[in-house]
Amino acid sequence: MEIKVSQDVKNLHSDVIVISQFEGEKTSQEIANVYAIEKDHFEGKLGQTYLLQTYGKIPADKILVVGCGKREEFTPTKITEVVAKAVKKLNQIHAKHVCFDFEVMCGKAGVIGAFIGDYVFDKYKTKKSNHLEEVTFANVKEEDVQEGLIFAQGMNFARDIANEPAAYATPTKLAELALSFEGLETKVFEKEEIEKMGMGAYLAVARGSAEPPKFIHMKYVGKNAKKKVAFIGKGLCFDSGGMDLKPASSMLTMRDDMSGAACVLGVMQSLTKLQPEGVEVHGIIAACENMPGQNAYKPGDILTAKNGKTVEVDNTDAEGRLTLADALCYACELGVDEVVDIATLTGACVVALGSIATGVMGNDEEMISKFLKTAKESGEKCWQLPMFEEYKDSLKSDIADMKNTGSRFGGASAAGVFLKEFVDGVKWVHVDIAGTAFLEKPQGIFCYGATGAGVRTLLNYATK
Ligand code: BES
Ligand code: MN
Ligand code: ZN
Repeated sequence: MEIKVSQDVKNLHSDVIVISQFEGEKTSQEIANVYAIEKDHFEGKLGQTYLLQTYGKIPADKILVVGCGKREEFTPTKITEVVAKAVKKLNQIHAKHVCFDFEVMCGKAGVIGAFIGDYVFDKYKTKKSNHLEEVTFANVKEEDVQEGLIFAQGMNFARDIANEPAAYATPTKLAELALSFEGLETKVFEKEEIEKMGMGAYLAVARGSAEPPKFIHMKYVGKNAKKKVAFIGKGLCFDSGGMDLKPASSMLTMRDDMSGAACVLGVMQSLTKLQPEGVEVHGIIAACENMPGQNAYKPGDILTAKNGKTVEVDNTDAEGRLTLADALCYACELGVDEVVDIATLTGACVVALGSIATGVMGNDEEMISKFLKTAKESGEKCWQLPMFEEYKDSLKSDIADMKNTGSRFGGASAAGVFLKEFVDGVKWVHVDIAGTAFLEKPQGIFCYGATGAGVRTLLNYATK
C-alpha cells in the first residue's frame, strides 16, 4: 500500500473518495450534491459507513461516508479507528485507488489506521486477500505521513513475526532478524556465554528444547543521547508449559508467547528509521522455547538467577518470569534510567482485563503514570494493576528465596512482585500483554491473530 498526499483530492480520479461525517451535523456539500443522504438514516455514528455511487458527477466512482461520532469527542485514536474501519470496507468492495478527504487533519493517526485496517496475515494462504494499492490523503503533513508509516511498519513487523508458526519464528530466527537491522549495535549471546553471565533461571527454561537459546541485545544511540531506556520483550518462541504441560486448547496459540519480543524488534527497527535524538534505547530479548524435552527443568528444581537469588520451580509453566528475571538483572546493569518489560505473562491478566486492555505494574508511580498517559495517546488501552507487598506471601518457599508461582488468584500481580525481585536501582514498568497481543477472533479494527500490542506506546515512550 502506497501513501500519497494531495491537497486536491476532489479532482483526482479514484475508485472511492472517503469523506468524514460527524454525528448530528449537516452533510457536507459534496455529498449533498451527489445524493441526499439524510433519506437513508445515516447518523454519523463512530465507525458507521455508507457507500454512494457518484454516476460521474464527481471524478471518483464512489463516495464512502464514514461516521466520526460527536465532533467534540473526536481524538487521534478515533481517527485511527475510523480510517481502519473505512479501509476494511474498501477492501470488501475491492477498491484499489482511494482518497481520504476528511475535514479534520488525519495525520500520523490516520496513516496508522490505514495500515491496521489493511493488515491480514495471509502468507500461508494460496488465495491472497484484497489490499488497497494507493491511498491519497488530503489534509495531512508530509512528515506526519512518514512518521505514521514508520510506526505502522513497526507494528506490521511485530504482527508478522508473532503470527508466524513456532517452526519459523525460532530463537535463532529472532536473533537473525535482530542482526539484520541496520543502524543498531547488536550482540547475540550464545548458550555458553549465557552460562558465563550466570543466567541460571533463563537457561533452565531453555533446557528442554532442541532449539538453542539466544540472548539478544540491540542498542540504538541517538544524537546527544541523554535519556537511557531498556525495553525487554518476553521471547518464548513456544510455550508448551514444559513438564507441567499445558492442555491442548491452551497450547494452540502459544506461538504468540514471543509477542513481547516481536514488539521490541518492531520498535527497534522503527527507531532506526525515526532516528530520534536525545535517547539511547536498548532492546533485550531472552529468546528460547519451553518444552518438556529429556533435559527439561523440573518442578522442585532450584535455580539461581543472575543476581544470585534462588528460585524453587513450583510450576514449569511459569517460565516467562524466569527468563525475564535474568533479562531484568542484565538490563539493570546497563546504566539505564528506566526499564520496561513487555510480556505475554499471565492467564490471570487475561481473566482480569480480557483482550481489551493491557495490564501495567511497576515500582515508580511517576513512571507508571507517564507510561499510561503515553499508551492512551497512542491508542492502546492499558490499566494499572496493584503490586502490594502482600502478593509476595504466596511466593514463599521452604527451600529457596522464593517460588516461581503462588496462588492462582491475583496471578498477574504475583508475577509482578516476582519480577520486582530482579529489578535493582532503576525505574521499571511491567506490561502484561497476555490478553491483548493475540486475538482468537476479530475485535474492533484488528483481525484474527497478532495485534502488535505495545509497539505504538513504546515508540512514543522512547521518542517523546
Ligand atoms: N504464556 C503464558 C501466559 C499466557 C496465557 C499468555 C494465556 C497468553 C494467553 C505463561 O507462560 C503461563 O503459562 N502462565 C501461567 C502461570 C501459572 C502456571 C502460574 C498461567 O497464567 O496460567
Ligand atoms: Mn507458561
Ligand atoms: Zn509463557
